[in-house]
Amino acid sequence: MKQSATASACGKLMILGEHAVVYGYSCIVSSVDRFITVTAKKAKGKDAFITPGVSDQSLIRNAVLIFRKRFLVKEGVVLSTKSNLGNFGLGTSSATAVAAILALAKILDIKIDNHELFDLSYQTVKSVQKKASGFDVATSIHQGTILFHGKDKSVERLSIAPLPLVVAFSGFKADTPLMVERVVHLMKKEPEKVKNIFHSISQIVREGKKAIIKKNWRKLGELMNENHQLLIKLGVSSNKLNQMVEAAQKAGAFGVKLSGAGGGDCIIALVPLSGEKQVKEAIKRVGGKVLNLTVGKEKRENITGPTK
Ligand code: PMV
Repeated sequence: MKQSATASACGKLMILGEHAVVYGYSCIVSSVDRFITVTAKKAKGKDAFITPGVSDQSLIRNAVLIFRKRFLVKEGVVLSTKSNLGNFGLGTSSATAVAAILALAKILDIKIDNHELFDLSYQTVKSVQKKASGFDVATSIHQGTILFHGKDKSVERLSIAPLPLVVAFSGFKADTPLMVERVVHLMKKEPEKVKNIFHSISQIVREGKKAIIKKNWRKLGELMNENHQLLIKLGVSSNKLNQMVEAAQKAGAFGVKLSGAGGGDCIIALVPLSGEKQVKEAIKRVGGKVLNLTVGKEKRENITGPTK
């Protein structure tokens, strides 16, 4: 009998298409080489959760409830988490949900495929963030760079090689539900404007797919710049994010945008290798914190199997 089982799932960064994806459009998203690891053990009595640095355990508790309901499991479990994702908006919730569901399946010897893994993890994320597209859950499962279709939640793999991106944290945490609500509000007030913005974003995503497949970084950069302008029009950027974006653009980046819900978290800058140093310096000068991350590289060996 297995004593414990461990599973890891990666974080993510949105490359193109945030917000529009909540309304059924497609987006492009990449994995980052940082992970949440969940270890599961069978408990003698009640469930227990050991989650250092996590004040609200509702996500991991809900993962167990959702798993138990689906597979009619009665046994108690002990789940413990470890993270090197930090607090930069790199997808902690989705990675925790995916790693927890996988670890539970392993310790309880239940086979689940990627469809079921997505379904259960997505339900878990939605139990704490009601209006969520699921793009982050799909990335935690598939890794690499993917095209995620908001409508039917299907995935197309675009690349498993790293993208030449510099990532920097703005110093502020994004409040994703608040930013999503802000767009809901604008949609009610000015539906035509928002629909036009989403339509333009969907075209950018379509072009972005081709640019990534062809490794046409100059083109991808242009598309990122356009996407950022549309996010400003949607009202989800911030002065700090715009300052960082402009600094990186002036320092020679092909393209720069905020990544994710907006209001805080990270920017991504597409940078030719020769210009990386100048762009990083420019971002630091306006107060951004450059993160040491590899974006878009598949790292299968991190989905680890049962132990002992
Ligand atoms: O704040 P993040 O990094 O989780 O990104 C949110 C992206 C949205 O499109 C605004 C929401 C979603 O669930 O797709």
